[in-house]
Amino acid sequence: MAFTIDVHLSPDDVRRQMRNDALAGLQAEHKSIPPVWFYDERGSQLFEEITRLPEYYPTRAERRLLVAHAPAIAEMSKADTLVELGAGACDKTRILLDALQDAGTLARYVPFDVSDGFLRNAAATLSVEYASLAIHLVIGDFHHHLAEIPTEGRRLVAFLGGTIGNLDPSQRARFLFDLNCTMSSDDCLLLGTDLVKDRTRLVKAYDDEAGVTAAFNRNVLHVLNEQLAGDFDPELFSHVALWNEGTQCIEMRLRAGQTTEVTLHDAGITVQFHEGEELLTEISAKFTPEGVAAELMEAGFVVEGTWGADQGEFMLSLAHPYC
Ligand code: SAH
Ligand code: TRP
Repeated sequence: MAFTIDVHLSPDDVRRQMRNDALAGLQAEHKSIPPVWFYDERGSQLFEEITRLPEYYPTRAERRLLVAHAPAIAEMSKADTLVELGAGACDKTRILLDALQDAGTLARYVPFDVSDGFLRNAAATLSVEYASLAIHLVIGDFHHHLAEIPTEGRRLVAFLGGTIGNLDPSQRARFLFDLNCTMSSDDCLLLGTDLVKDRTRLVKAYDDEAGVTAAFNRNVLHVLNEQLAGDFDPELFSHVALWNEGTQCIEMRLRAGQTTEVTLHDAGITVQFHEGEELLTEISAKFTPEGVAAELMEAGFVVEGTWGADQGEFMLSLAHPYC
């Protein structure tokens, strides 16, 4: 069946964008780097490992919800096209594809991700498993390329994994509004959000015994070295995961173990880290069911169904644009 690939983010675009992010983020008073740069080939593999860790409950919780409710979601959406934002390994995708296939509507799958090679591999595997499915890969950044996603068909747009929590509140508002603008009234959004819970459990999910999350976090320094001819020594930085009660976010940071100077030749900068200084690499917001509903409504969505809100672990919401 048809296998199409659109690339909206070339290797040159990646380098240029990363350079801008490094200039802004590493020269700020509170250093940070956007999480999109975690996901080179190795980063995507490490994330897959994270999803299998005993401490990392969100993937299993979301999978359970999908297994239980995908038939109802397929029925309500009546979609022939599954669009998946931040598709990654396209693993939980199969549950939705199967439900749409059983409902007799499935025709097309459109995975969208920034991680080019990784997505190509995942989609190639899927194309063997679902021989009659048209697959249209889109490589892009969901902060810039939502409008480039094909609009043909009646679409179920899935944004799973709690990835929306990796955006800060103003980015989320913008993202949901922009997404809403690309959707027709027949399209549906399926949003996966992690819920606020016991803080020990939350922190453990981002600071596992085996150190996979620590390796994932440090990987962003390898990516910066590689893309911008940098000389970060990732081993000088330790992994920090903490719960920020005020913002209801897990924060991931890298803490310099000693005073050090780092040069990124291709960004033309040298920056100092003093001992103990931290680089913010990621936030992962945790939600309440009411909070998710409010953010969706604010962006112009009507919520049709939610699953998982009562158990308080993880939640799926199905919504369509208000027209
Ligand atoms: N959906 C999968 C993967 C979640 S990890 C799951 O639920 O397990 C987040 C995914 O989003 C990764 O595959 C990453 O490459 C992608 N991603 C992160 N930031 C992105 C951005 N700005 N634009 C597009 N994809 C992004
Ligand atoms: N969307 C995932 C989450 O917020 C991403 C993630 C999981 C992550 N573990 C991580 C990001 C560790 C950075 C570091 O749960």
